[in-house]
Amino acid sequence: MSSRLNRRDFVRTGAAAAGLGLTSRVDGAPAIRQARPRPVVISSTNGHTRTHDGTESCVVRAFRLMTGGTDVLEALIAGVNIVELDPKDTSVGYGGLPNADGVVQLDSCCMHGPKKRAGGVAALEGVRTPSKVAYAVLQNTDHHLLVGAGAQTFARQMGFTVEADLNTETSRRLWLEWKRRLDPDHFLDPEKRADAAFDAGRSMVRDGLIDPAHYFGTINCNGVNTRGDVCGVTTTSGLAWKIPGRVGDSPILGAGLYVDGEVGAAGSTGRGEANLYGLCSYLIVEQLRQGKSPKDAGMEALRRVRANTIEKRLLDPKGTGNPRFGLNFYVVNKAGEFAGVSMYESDYAVCTENGPEIRKTESLIAGREPQW
Ligand code: GLY
Repeated sequence: MSSRLNRRDFVRTGAAAAGLGLTSRVDGAPAIRQARPRPVVISSTNGHTRTHDGTESCVVRAFRLMTGGTDVLEALIAGVNIVELDPKDTSVGYGGLPNADGVVQLDSCCMHGPKKRAGGVAALEGVRTPSKVAYAVLQNTDHHLLVGAGAQTFARQMGFTVEADLNTETSRRLWLEWKRRLDPDHFLDPEKRADAAFDAGRSMVRDGLIDPAHYFGTINCNGVNTRGDVCGVTTTSGLAWKIPGRVGDSPILGAGLYVDGEVGAAGSTGRGEANLYGLCSYLIVEQLRQGKSPKDAGMEALRRVRANTIEKRLLDPKGTGNPRFGLNFYVVNKAGEFAGVSMYESDYAVCTENGPEIRKTESLIAGREPQW
């Protein structure tokens, strides 16, 4: 089957189960009346541009499973596994761009709205599907976040295959090229050295060797079913050529992902550090709680990030005063309303009962991300 399910199937599976009329318990805000939640799965673009085995994309698989009765979080994780296992996506899972030492280190977390539980892993090496390990943390432990060697030991104990190296020929070749471009003098003053590393990375994007979306690339995927069950998952290889041990926003609750089963979900892709400073996914869900639409809630977070970006190195070199980086949020509320929002013009993937599609995000700033 192609990645685009036929529309009749979607109308049948998506609309079959009648939604329940639910009234959310909402603290300190008007209650949200949710008549008949509309099932939806929303994700970053790679949730519909990657199919790995050539049959289904992430949003299609997650929607099919979810509307067929599979637990929403399990459906979403089955969806993102496609991208994690796809060696062509150099921003997630197997074949993700490695850290500065050439080692692929992966971050992921997941959150189950109805169960009010979450699990995460960070700087995990050797397991192709970190989202599944994050889910194992949720299911089998009293903890939320396991990191580094501890996360790997846990994965092994849970029966995951641990490989010596998750690089593909492509990711290793690109890392070697980055090393080659980096100034070999390791005794530059710290400021110049940081610039040299950053410039080496950017020059590879400019030269078309790396998709700009894969430099900080990630997949976030959120969904709601006809019962109003909301869940989410985020998984990434993080920032290309990062300092070993660097953990971005993806596995951090409130940053790379946040779900409140009574309200909705939000998750991110893009420059993790900018998101971490504002814990934007949490902020967005709190805005939803106050009654904002998914689009307005997401825009509020983007405005805060823009206002908090003041360092020259992070600003558009053209002097607009705007950030020079991309940041995207994928937002869904319990009623099944959704939005993809971004700092600059971008795209996202969504699947409803009408089928999967790639849509334009609502952007805070007109135009594409400044040239690298
Ligand atoms: N948003 C992915 C990262 O910064 O690691």
